[in-house]
Amino acid sequence: MASVVKSFTLFALIPAIFFPAFAQLTSDFYDSICPQALSTIQATVEAAIIQEPRMGASLVRLHFHDCFVNGCDGSILLDDTPAMTGEKTAKPNKNSARGFDVVDQIKSAVNDACLGNVVSCADILAVAARDSIVALGGASYDVLLGRRDATDASLAAANANIPAPTLDLAGLVSNFQSQGLSLSDLVVLSGAHTLGFARCVSFRNRIYNETADINSDFAASLQAQCPPDAGDGDDVLASLDDTPFVVDTDYYQGLLQNQGLLHSDQQLFQGDGSDSDNLVQFYSQSPTDFWSDFGTAMINMGNLSPLTGDDGEIRENCRVVNQD
Ligand code: HEM
Ligand SMILES: *[C@@H]1O[C@H](CO)[C@@H](O)[C@H](O)[C@H]1NC(C)=O
Repeated sequence: MASVVKSFTLFALIPAIFFPAFAQLTSDFYDSICPQALSTIQATVEAAIIQEPRMGASLVRLHFHDCFVNGCDGSILLDDTPAMTGEKTAKPNKNSARGFDVVDQIKSAVNDACLGNVVSCADILAVAARDSIVALGGASYDVLLGRRDATDASLAAANANIPAPTLDLAGLVSNFQSQGLSLSDLVVLSGAHTLGFARCVSFRNRIYNETADINSDFAASLQAQCPPDAGDGDDVLASLDDTPFVVDTDYYQGLLQNQGLLHSDQQLFQGDGSDSDNLVQFYSQSPTDFWSDFGTAMINMGNLSPLTGDDGEIRENCRVVNQD
């Protein structure tokens, strides 16, 4: 009887081993199929950042905008076709998301290095985000890998799920919560705004709002660049913190001075002693905690609903679904 039970158990385990219902991402996914994959991505990211320092910020943001729309599945990279309007023209991405050419360069470099199409576009975004953070002074973390690429994209989901800079704290918390991310993930991931730039159209309401909690000198200097009328100078850029090419804690220090550029940034610190305020204060004083917690939170974000196993595909060209 015991042996019957045993062999039954063994039999029952076999399908679980060969057909995992939920395949986990792993940090060594490409180690045997393409040992050069990660160093190739890193070299291409570093070259792109040397050519244009802002590119690091833009690549970090692409991974975020990918993950928040039906999971980290490379959907943001798909170009529109007559049959499908993708995510590139969604409100948060249009005239804003950038770095697509660099992703193409990375993809073709890894396809060459790996002698074939083995690295997914979704994984490229996750690794390029990490490499950008490291290139600009942040701490490294092990990116989990093995994502596969979506065969479609959703304009509507991009518009619905990527948080808007007009959200208040409660709206930001609930947006992150609906992705399974916590208040501390929100505060530490918003620290990505230590890098990069926003357009006038994204912060105009804040700098001309007389009741906004904004430092008046800071508002005046932004008003000098970003005209008040809608449509006027919409694309004029301002940096999200005072060191847009360095991963540091100046973003949080700026929030303590009411110098958050976006309404959503300043919502994280309102001087009312909330949990969010306390996290901002904590990170403003501790770059090492920011660097390490940021890595952990990026891994959390990178775990959002990946396609694994036989789901999705490895796209040959990140802009288009494979043709059979
Ligand atoms: C918490 C809610 C968030 C909101 C409301 C938000 C909103 C924005 C907006 C409005 C911009 C400027 C876009 C433009 O004007 O063209 C921006 C830029 C940026 N965001 Fe966020 N963001 C959020 C969270 C994040 C997260 C979680 C990350 C990454 C982990 C991130 C990374 C970036 C980066 C790096 C830039 C600069 C991009 C560049 O210079 O190309 N953001 N964000
Ligand atoms: C102006 O700022 C106040 C306080 O933050 C906010 O309640 C209000 O919605 C803002 N108005 C506009 C037009 O952004």
